[in-house]
Amino acid sequence: MTTLVLNHIDKNFGSGQNQMLALKDVSFKTEPGELTLIIGPSGSGKSTLLTILGGLQTPSSGEMIMNNQNIEHLTRRDREKFRLNEIGFILQSYNLVPYLTVAEQFKLVDHVKKQHNLAPSTFAQLLTQLGLQNLLSQYPNELSGGQAQRVAIARALYANPSIILADEPTAALDSDRVIQVGQLFQDIAHQQHKAVVAVTHDIRLKAYADHIFELVDGQLSQLQ
Ligand SMILES: Nc1ncnc2c1ncn2[C@@H]1O[C@H](COP(=O)(O)OP(=O)(O)OP(=O)(O)O)[C@@H](O)[C@H]1O
Ligand SMILES: [Mg+2]
Repeated sequence: MTTLVLNHIDKNFGSGQNQMLALKDVSFKTEPGELTLIIGPSGSGKSTLLTILGGLQTPSSGEMIMNNQNIEHLTRRDREKFRLNEIGFILQSYNLVPYLTVAEQFKLVDHVKKQHNLAPSTFAQLLTQLGLQNLLSQYPNELSGGQAQRVAIARALYANPSIILADEPTAALDSDRVIQVGQLFQDIAHQQHKAVVAVTHDIRLKAYADHIFELVDGQLSQLQ
């Protein structure tokens, strides 16, 4: 069970007169066993917060603690291991590999992360749940936006991480799929005791959340 804590994080972009503060004194904790939503308007800092949580960007100040250890004190190799083994990222841009079929996107996970990926039967069930079983030989440019988004969700879950970070995971999905993904994320949190954090504009996901935060102009506050 892995827990990530952010303490008083600031994130600046640019310098001098062009400097902008994308995150201001943000403190946040991932909660294993719970689905947390972060809601906020475009440009409020949601993707910045999520990529800092997942170790893809470093904060300008403040500290990040993983299982009681300051992440800055880890070696680069340990930080990479942590990202690979503990974090599942569903990026806003999906990040599918263009020259690999859907099936090969998952094989790539096997190649990069050699153990603890989902067992074949659980994986087959996930593909059915997300309606992907007939798309395995397609390439990303042959998928609709919603299909690509569901592949990105399945790929992150396939690696069986302890923390799932999802950036607008339902932006391209129709209402029925939003319900399925909301339920799926809730099941993963509640039944598998993982921490699921989703940043979103989609208020339909609120029904599934254990905690809801709002991010406005880089400032985070808890609503529920
Ligand atoms: N690499 C960067 N360099 C400069 N400014 C950046 C960078 N990344 C983000 N920003 C700025 O930080 C602010 C927050 O951006 P961010 O992408 O986190 O917003 P967001 O809430 O995810 O928006 P959206 O809902 O549109 O995805 C914006 O003003 C953006 O222009
Ligand atoms: Mg964003």
